[in-house]
Amino acid sequence: MKFLHEQVSSKASMLALLLLQSVPQVSGHYGFPILSVNGKWSEWWEFVRPVGLDGYGSQFFPSYDWTGSNQVCGINATKTGHLTGTVKVEAGSTLGFVAIAATYSQGVIDPHPYRWGPDGIGHAGPGQVYMSLAPGALEDYEGDGDWFKIATSGASDGQHWDSDGQPWKPSLNATIPKTTPPGKYLVRVEHFNISPSYNGTQQFMSCAHVEVTGSGGGTPGPTIKFPGSYNIEDPRPGPAVWTG
Ligand SMILES: *[C@@H]1O[C@H](CO)[C@@H](O)[C@H](O)[C@H]1NC(C)=O
Ligand SMILES: *[C@@H]1O[C@H](CO)[C@@H](O)[C@H](O)[C@H]1NC(C)=O
Ligand SMILES: *[C@@H]1O[C@H](CO)[C@@H](O)[C@H](O)[C@H]1NC(C)=O
Repeated sequence: MKFLHEQVSSKASMLALLLLQSVPQVSGHYGFPILSVNGKWSEWWEFVRPVGLDGYGSQFFPSYDWTGSNQVCGINATKTGHLTGTVKVEAGSTLGFVAIAATYSQGVIDPHPYRWGPDGIGHAGPGQVYMSLAPGALEDYEGDGDWFKIATSGASDGQHWDSDGQPWKPSLNATIPKTTPPGKYLVRVEHFNISPSYNGTQQFMSCAHVEVTGSGGGTPGPTIKFPGSYNIEDPRPGPAVWTG
């Protein structure tokens, strides 16, 4: 596959940190059409913006682009906000983005029940969850505002990626900090299939529509923008987690 042929960048320190377990994987992609709220799973795309087909005609194919609008919410999903609903969630709740697997070039994938075997996060790498408050209608929001991070999934034992354990870890999880200001947010998941080259790293992302309730009081930060904030010299992808 493409990413195996690319050259190792000697200054890819962000990824150098992340390179453990970068064993070549069998082909397989994934997307996050299902949102779990306090353990209850939604329908496909009920609260997650649908992603479009990429240039290969495949819905869950990864993005290799670090600077284009597809990095915000997945392929074409800065524009698909009118196709999904918004879930109301009390601050302090746990969200999970459930990963569904796709074959190398599967086209549009029909909703189907989670398969405890083929589905799940199919590659080794880190994951993160971010939030961004919509300045106006959430449906129209293209995610060009400020994003703060609420969860990161790394390698807590220094040897294995915590999120890589399909199918027993069906979702990438995050708790909405208790003091998150009430409002309507895009909640963005990303998961990387790490490659020895920056350009070869596969990015899988999606955005959910979440209305946060609660008493607020916190000031989320530090923040970054998508696309384009990740730098190969960074010691980790994005800012520190905001815990409220
Ligand atoms: C995605 O956006 C591109 C550029 O706007 C467009 O040509 C393409 O048809 C879109 N694909 C889908 C599946 O919406
Ligand atoms: C996310 O939470 C679910 C339900 O508690 C759990 O089964 C799963 O292992 C968690 N995912 C990760 C990556 O820890
Ligand atoms: C890889 O990424 C770097 C940094 O963005 C860029 O300068 C270079 O042209 C890319 N190489 C390829 C083969 O796409």
